[in-house]
Amino acid sequence: MHSGTAVTPQLRVLFTRDQIARRVTEMADDITRDFAGQSIIFVGVLKGASIFLGDLARQVKLDATFDFISVASYGAGTKTSGEVRMNKDVDSSMADKNVIIVEDILDTGLTMGFLRKLFLAHQPRSLKVAVLLDKACRRIEPVKADYVGFVIPDEFVVGYGMDYAERYRNLPDICVLPPQLQSA
Ligand code: PRP
Repeated sequence: MHSGTAVTPQLRVLFTRDQIARRVTEMADDITRDFAGQSIIFVGVLKGASIFLGDLARQVKLDATFDFISVASYGAGTKTSGEVRMNKDVDSSMADKNVIIVEDILDTGLTMGFLRKLFLAHQPRSLKVAVLLDKACRRIEPVKADYVGFVIPDEFVVGYGMDYAERYRNLPDICVLPPQLQSA
């Protein structure tokens, strides 16, 4: 049993490592059932999804491979610019593969909208989306994930792969970053 106490005292724990582990196992069980007897490829969206992908993939009992893509949103420092740019493409062909895009968080949906179009152009056998967190109230582009860990309110979350200015990714719990720390 963990205390759930974060390294930085001002951080409020939203989901403990134990809660995350339980939910990730449930998601992995769903994927194992849905793709029984088939191979899949997990495509992680760097960098935030890296820890989630590692935990999810280790619980899935299927023949699986990994690939990674890196994208970034630009424009006036916000994520609502609608402009998504690719920094690193996948290494392998997605043609005729069962592709599962793995994301830490679905926010406006602009990144996932961009990725879905990109991957559908590869003509995969199937294309699914797994997200740990869904800020459904923030959606601009109407995308939906097939596997969702938790639906969360509009709060700035860090930990378990997610950052603020590249910090906090290594926190084992998912925490809310209060506004007073958002300029620190
Ligand atoms: C986060 C997250 C998604 C995107 C979601 O990435 O990993 O890729 O934002 O936002 P959207 O739904 O509004 O498009 P971020 O840009 O923080 O990069 P990171 O994963 O490297 O931290």
